[in-house]
Formats: sequence, C-alpha cells, structure tokens
Amino acid sequence: MDRPRPFLKWAGGKRQLLAQFRPFLPPPGSYDRYLEPFLGGGALFFDLRPDRAILSDVNRDLIECYQTLKEDPDSVIQLLRDYPNDPDFFYEMRKRDPATMDPPGRTARTLYLNRTCYNGLYRKNSKGQFNVPFGRYKNPKICDADNLRAVSACLQGTDLRTGSFETAARKAEPEDFVYFDPPYHPLSTTSSFTAYTEHRFGEEEQLQLAGVFRELHQRGCCLMLSNSDTPLIRDAYAGFRIETVLANRAINSKSAGRGKIQEVLVLNY
Ligand SMILES: C[S@@+](CC[C@H](N)C(=O)[O-])C[C@H]1O[C@@H](n2cnc3c(N)ncnc32)[C@H](O)[C@@H]1O
Repeated sequence: MDRPRPFLKWAGGKRQLLAQFRPFLPPPGSYDRYLEPFLGGGALFFDLRPDRAILSDVNRDLIECYQTLKEDPDSVIQLLRDYPNDPDFFYEMRKRDPATMDPPGRTARTLYLNRTCYNGLYRKNSKGQFNVPFGRYKNPKICDADNLRAVSACLQGTDLRTGSFETAARKAEPEDFVYFDPPYHPLSTTSSFTAYTEHRFGEEEQLQLAGVFRELHQRGCCLMLSNSDTPLIRDAYAGFRIETVLANRAINSKSAGRGKIQEVLVLNY
C-alpha cells in the first residue's frame, strides 16, 4: 500500500514544512491519540499516520470529503475516472449544485475542481459558491486511485468531526498530542489571507486559541502550534518554547514576490 498524501491542495498546507517539523515532534509512542483541530489538507496527519486520531475542521464540505473517502473510496474513484480535464466539463461541474448530489458525488466534484482549477485553490464567493476558473494544466492527476485507497486505509482509526477548535479541544485528554495549525495571523493588513470559509479568524480568535492552548497545557496534553512570526503571536504564547522554521510563502503584495519567511512552532514540551 502506498504512503498516503493529502488528497486536496489546501491553502496553508504543511507538506513543504514536514522535514523541518520532524526534529520537534514528540517521539512516536509517547502519546495516546493525535488531535488535529484545523485539519485542512492534513499533511502532518498523513505523515504521522497515528493509530487513533480525532480530526476536525470548521469546513463541513472538507470533513465530508474525509468521511466519504474513509467509508467508500471506490465510489469516488469510479466517478473521478471518467472526469476529463476539459474546460466545458469543468464549468458544467462547477455550476452543479452540491446540495443535489450524494456524498461520493460531492466529494468527487471537490477533488476534481481542486485538481483542475487555477492554482488548486479552495475559494468560495460570498454566496458560498466555488468560483475559481479552469486551470489549463496539461495533465493533472484527476484520479489518483492508489492514493485515495491509501488515504481511506489511513482514516480507519479516525473520528472525523465538523466544528470549531474550541469544541475539538474539549475532547483532548492528558497524554494526547494536539497539533494546531490555525489560519495565520497576517504579517500586515495587506497580506491577510484568512478566507478559507465564511468563518473569520482575526486577532480575537488568535487570542482565544492561545487561551485554549494554555488550558490544554494545564490538562497535561502534549501541544504543538504553527503560526506566523508576529509580535502578537509571540506575546500570546510567552512562556512556552518557541522554535522557528522557514517557509516559502507569498508575502505582501505582488511586488514583494515570493520568498522565505520565518514562522513559529510553539511547543509545550
Ligand atoms: C492553515 S489551514 C490548515 C492546513 C493543514 N495543516 C494542512 O496541512 O493542509 C487552517 C484550517 O483551519 C480551518 N478553520 C478556520 N477557522 C476555524 C475554526 N474556528 N475552528 C476550526 N477550524 C477552523 C480552515 O477551514 C482551514 O482548513
């Protein structure tokens, strides 16, 4: 069986940072369960492949994709096999109302649009409709059946939930390892990409999260959190161990270009 990889390209995905995370992870076997309350593409989860996990995200469509792949990967694979990389088909699929489809249909639609749309971004307009244009990739892998089966196998020991990080944190018990990867605190007002869903994640939410982090620390959980390196974040986690990693990330405006940017990892161990 292949090693599973994230099945969606997700803004803020951590695949590129995994090698830098490894020295800071708790040793396997040192924790009971793995919790990831800001799941997104789940890069760290698929890398660790823990036996028991609670995975959650506030994005209902996203969690439905995980749940469907866990229960019925073959129906999704069967649909995706027939989907062409063609602009007419793309715009037809984009136009379809997900509410009229069944879970495998909706999941196949999300995976298809994610693979073939411009930049592979998940973005919705104010009406909650997916509005990214066709990507014109030469040969996108629309149906990666081996990976989808590996993903399904890896999800068997997981409890998948839709909900906020506060609700997820209530489930954490002593000896659990919790990895928090929230929408990042923007470095400047012009670099604020936090629009994954209609749910806003501003300074107030960052500070609430820091409060939850302290609570779980008191409870005896093992904790790791990623965020951007800003004074607000360093202040909010003062007293905890703070390490840095270097990420490739778009900064500021177009003219500032793309470069390496320092991000923090907050640890309570
Ligand atoms: C930086 S992304 C996580 C990326 C993920 N680690 C990966 O490797 O792909 C942040 C995620 O937090 C979710 N989110 C935003 N606000 C949330 C909230 N209040 N509670 C839980 N999840 C939230 C978003 O839907 C998004 O998937």
